[in-house]
Amino acid sequence: MGGTSGMGLATAQVLSSEGYRVIISGRSQDTINKALSEVAGDCTGFPLDFTDAASVASFFEQVGSLDHLALVGSGKAVWGNFRDLKLEDLKVAFEQKFYGFFLCTQAALGKLRADGSITFVIGGASRSAIPGTTGVAAVNGAIQAMAFTMAKELAPLRVNILSPGLFDTPVYNWMTPEQKADFFKQMGGELPVGRVGKPDEIGQAVSYFIKNGFTTGAILDVDGGDGYIKYWLNQLGCFRNLTSLFSGSRGVGLEQRDLAEGQVAHETIAEVYMQALHNKTAQGKTFEVYNEKGNPLTNWSAAFAALLSGAVFH
Ligand SMILES: NC(=O)c1ccc[n+]([C@@H]2O[C@H](COP(=O)([O-])OP(=O)(O)OC[C@H]3O[C@@H](n4cnc5c(N)ncnc54)[C@H](OP(=O)(O)O)[C@@H]3O)[C@@H](O)[C@H]2O)c1
Repeated sequence: MGGTSGMGLATAQVLSSEGYRVIISGRSQDTINKALSEVAGDCTGFPLDFTDAASVASFFEQVGSLDHLALVGSGKAVWGNFRDLKLEDLKVAFEQKFYGFFLCTQAALGKLRADGSITFVIGGASRSAIPGTTGVAAVNGAIQAMAFTMAKELAPLRVNILSPGLFDTPVYNWMTPEQKADFFKQMGGELPVGRVGKPDEIGQAVSYFIKNGFTTGAILDVDGGDGYIKYWLNQLGCFRNLTSLFSGSRGVGLEQRDLAEGQVAHETIAEVYMQALHNKTAQGKTFEVYNEKGNPLTNWSAAFAALLSGAVFH
């Protein structure tokens, strides 16, 4: 599921190069055809919208029997502080990724080899405890919880979870190529491995889960050490250190807030980052953050660097 783009497409490429017969899905025949042109080997594809039970049923009618299932598709993510989360946004997020993965997995059961495997791709937020990501954490955490129980209930079918960190996929194509390169350089530079992930590294991890018959109920972080870093930032309280954050009229839609000395803003590094990331109006614009001397950090990566460093802004 999700084989037409990013990690899913790369997974199809890796598995196909290893000699597997691969079937991909996406919502339209056009995206499937484009993806198929990028996968060498034995690869076919059928349309599937995993938010639609009839579409899911029709897909599994066409594919016949399966040895392994990898769910790498994405859904609408909901970001923001818990106190501001809207029920309807959260419902949409669950209806897409969680119920989508649920529908596909349940429909696949009759087709899957008894001792085959299922791999769910979630996201690091579910175990990072970063303020501003409760919605994303809830959706991905629900998949994780479901998968652990499935591993026991459906044995000898193996069920595993892949938790990616930041990967260079088309999901970030709303940025200009320069912004994207700058952003990945900065974010990747914060990681022990010094770079963001390449989609085929998820493909390799899916391949591991498929091949290793002694691995089930497992969760694998493929995140360049991001979870480890976040753990320590949380321990140090860095995610709570942002006392004031500003964006000018050219900014990404964050409101300027004047905070009293010592008052802690509700914005968190994660929320600001995610707002910048998902606010299409940010495209081609400058993210404006002020340093402690009141000078604006007008450079995209400098602003993120400052945010990530957990610096206090006045
Ligand atoms: N990229 C990252 O940094 C990152 C980090 C952590 C977690 N993740 C997770 O990793 C997974 C893959 O992300 P990605 O960056 O590779 O995403 P992507 O490049 O945007 O690909 C998303 C895939 O999901 C498919 N899809 C979306 N909605 C669908 C639906 N309703 N029914 C069927 N297929 C649907 C898309 O197919 P069509 O468009 O052809 O329909 C596409 O193949 C996602 O679950 C994401 O949350 C990504």
